[in-house]
Amino acid sequence: MKHVISPLDLSVEELDHILSLAEDMLQNPKKYSECCHGKKLATLFYEPSTRTRLSFEAAMLNLGGSVLGFSSADSSSAAKGESVADTIRVVSSYADICAMRHPKEGAPLVASMYSTIPVINAGDGGHNHPTQTLTDLLTIKILKGHLDHLKIGFCGDLKFGRTVHSLINAMVRYEGSNFTLISPVELQIPTYLKEEVLDQKQIPYKEVSVLEDVLSELDILYMTRVQKERFFNEEDYIRLKDSFILTSKKMELARPDMLVLHPLPRVNEIATEVDSDPRAVYFKQAQFGVYVRMALIVTLLQINV
Ligand code: NCD
Repeated sequence: MKHVISPLDLSVEELDHILSLAEDMLQNPKKYSECCHGKKLATLFYEPSTRTRLSFEAAMLNLGGSVLGFSSADSSSAAKGESVADTIRVVSSYADICAMRHPKEGAPLVASMYSTIPVINAGDGGHNHPTQTLTDLLTIKILKGHLDHLKIGFCGDLKFGRTVHSLINAMVRYEGSNFTLISPVELQIPTYLKEEVLDQKQIPYKEVSVLEDVLSELDILYMTRVQKERFFNEEDYIRLKDSFILTSKKMELARPDMLVLHPLPRVNEIATEVDSDPRAVYFKQAQFGVYVRMALIVTLLQINV
């Protein structure tokens, strides 16, 4: 039985298979509408979510399966002090697969050690978010046509942004990846990612603090929100929250085929005027999230399609 806790739990071949399956599901949704009949997905969300939880649930419903779960720690027995290990032991007997989001890094990994059903990490603290990465990869693959030889700019909160950490981990496996890391000094990517991933694999990257200086060089701009809930004090959040705001004026500096991705939710970092720019693909990206989750569920349940 396989769990997906980190994007590296899937080999490049498995990733490619999931992305191709997701593309087929997007084109022929009817073909898959009963393939999870009788199967149940549990969504165990100890932290707020809109897209991730609802797209997991929509994915399972599109496959003809059913869903159960909770959407906040307060409405589960976590509020009474129950451990993740005990919760998952019980949920294993209620459902066939589960997606877990938790504020503590490593919680889904702990769950996977006690689970008898596949556990999918739906975001653990500031650490990883592998299904957002699948969503991002599908978006890039469909809209750019390839995943190699891309210059990606990550902008915003690169310290706490788990979607950034997971996408970097996944992209370093494709040839010719080149990263521009755009953030205030206080929100640069964690040292472990620089030393153990970028430096070790000799991936070209640079760190800058002014978006306008690099916009014209990028194939993809991956914008992120400053992760308020991970800050230790409000003063720092207020000082840093509006570090970058993408506007139509700034978009004039970018290539005509640059794509703007954002895992959402957006706060202030992309002005709404940018939404009508054909290069702004973040709402399409959110739609693609349903299909990669459908493909992942079917793969982990080992359903022949
Ligand atoms: C992201 C997350 O939860 O990490 N959202 C998402 O899953 N689409 C990004 C964020 O919250 O900023």
